[in-house]
Amino acid sequence: MTWNLETIVVGVDGSDGSKVAAERAVAIARHWKSKLLLVTVVRTPEGWWGIGGAPPTPEALSAAMVDGQQRILGEMEEHLDLEGVDYETVEELGDPTTGLIAVSERRDADLVVIGRRGAGLAERVLMGSVADRIVHHSEVPVLVVP
Ligand SMILES: Nc1ncnc2c1ncn2[C@@H]1O[C@H](COP(=O)(O)OP(=O)(O)O)[C@@H](O)[C@H]1O
Ligand SMILES: [Mg+2]
Repeated sequence: MTWNLETIVVGVDGSDGSKVAAERAVAIARHWKSKLLLVTVVRTPEGWWGIGGAPPTPEALSAAMVDGQQRILGEMEEHLDLEGVDYETVEELGDPTTGLIAVSERRDADLVVIGRRGAGLAERVLMGSVADRIVHHSEVPVLVVP
């Protein structure tokens, strides 16, 4: 078979783990002349499922979106050497696993690259739960970068 890596998705969450994953993704994208999507999924701010079921305020929602765009994606764009790479930043709202899978399917990605660990609290021995769930549920091949 031929496997054209036309589109590569990388999950960006502001962690060192996702930085290392994105560096790999850039190297792959440069080599294969792929389109690289730097994707961050912003969790819905507290409130939506919280006590009383009140939806998050528009202010909380837009603050979360701005944070995702500027801090998470902006910082990653600055960190990476993206010279000569055709890339795009994508921000999605919702659950990280669902969001990453949705973007990879919507954009017909050929590969999803994620870190083994993310921005979660503990230095754990196990894979992060987003990584774990993506590996289990993705219909697109996944590269987990340690
Ligand atoms: N909100 C998110 N948006 C995009 N990618 C994410 C998000 N959360 C996690 N990822 C991806 O999944 C990888 C593993 O993160 P995760 O499973 O959440 O580990 P942890 O539990 O240590 O936070 C990250 O390195 C990143 O590539
Ligand atoms: Mg996490």
